[in-house]
Amino acid sequence: MAGLVSRRVRRRRLRVAAGIVAAVTTAHDPTPALPVFADVDTGVDDAMALVYLLASTDADVVGIASTGGNVDVDQVCRNNLGLLQLCGATDIPVSRGADQPLSAAMRTAEDTHGPAGLGYAELPRHDREPTSYDSAEAWVRAAHAHPGELIGLVTGPLTNLALALRAEPTLPSLLRRLVIMGGSFDYRGNTTPVAEWNISVDPESAAEVFAAWGAAWGEQDPDHLPIVLGLNVTENVAMTPAILARLAAAAGTPTPEMSVTDTRGTRSPATNPLIGTLEDAMRFYFEFHHDQGEGYLAHLHDPLAAAAALDPGLVRTRATTVDVELVGALTRGMTVADWSGHWGRRPNALIGTETDPTVFFDRFIDRVGRYARRF
Ligand code: BDR
Ligand code: CA
Repeated sequence: MAGLVSRRVRRRRLRVAAGIVAAVTTAHDPTPALPVFADVDTGVDDAMALVYLLASTDADVVGIASTGGNVDVDQVCRNNLGLLQLCGATDIPVSRGADQPLSAAMRTAEDTHGPAGLGYAELPRHDREPTSYDSAEAWVRAAHAHPGELIGLVTGPLTNLALALRAEPTLPSLLRRLVIMGGSFDYRGNTTPVAEWNISVDPESAAEVFAAWGAAWGEQDPDHLPIVLGLNVTENVAMTPAILARLAAAAGTPTPEMSVTDTRGTRSPATNPLIGTLEDAMRFYFEFHHDQGEGYLAHLHDPLAAAAALDPGLVRTRATTVDVELVGALTRGMTVADWSGHWGRRPNALIGTETDPTVFFDRFIDRVGRYARRF
């Protein structure tokens, strides 16, 4: 734990040097922080998830793996490094992931997240590089550095985690907890009629990850099964202009509530750089959801997963066996939950079934609003 504390203190010093944190604030934070490793395809909602983690005094982000998904892997690296620069968290290592899914052709989603992945937001320049080792190795290093303690969070395709499991099959027992945003359970897909994006991009990697946890089940108790949050639960968490305005107000930088009648691409008037960035990113995400017929709102899939990674009590879950359809002409990438035990296989996941969006948003606004006041 001493190492974790010194990392937090080091990070605060960097923020002080960058003028982000007032030098008069105390560097002592008694909250015990849990080491968190985040594997992301940043992405608007991934960025919101990372900011939530950085804003959480009960989390110490020890590494970030970049996975190609919403945008290609090099752009994901740029986004992660730019976001950390903005937040003054430049001591957090960022690793580059695989160029391609395990066997599928790479796909990206600029229509959903914008040409560079952060909607209309522009991140600050930086001169940092990804680590010399790749994202799969970063997973293994982080797990060995914090045996039994590390919380893993995946909010993108599972390519890097599958590669890490090939290199280190004991990962399921090395981690304290794993939370995955992916899949859709007894609910429609968002990429095909039945498949969710993160699983659909690399179904083979998802199948390998679920199989690995299933194989480890004999040594594990149910608490060690991955918490898997699909669209059936994450689509209950809808950011709206009113909630976003609450966030800006909580940060001490009130901004006018966005509206569907605003000119598309209108930039945030916020003088606070973090709030301005999040608003510029969210506006694009609102417009995308609106164009999909879902209203002028945006689902915060990945921030819910980040919040559940720190506090699993935020979601109700049910243990079951999950597998991924790999061959169906119409159903490839579908996550199938065997609720009734037809397969006779051990549970390999805790599937999210319910959450309270009010509790989530209150916590999100409290943490991120308070954090943004420092900028
Ligand atoms: C998931 O797909 C991505 O576009 C989002 O970042 C999220 O992780 C939702 O299906
Ligand atoms: Ca994502």
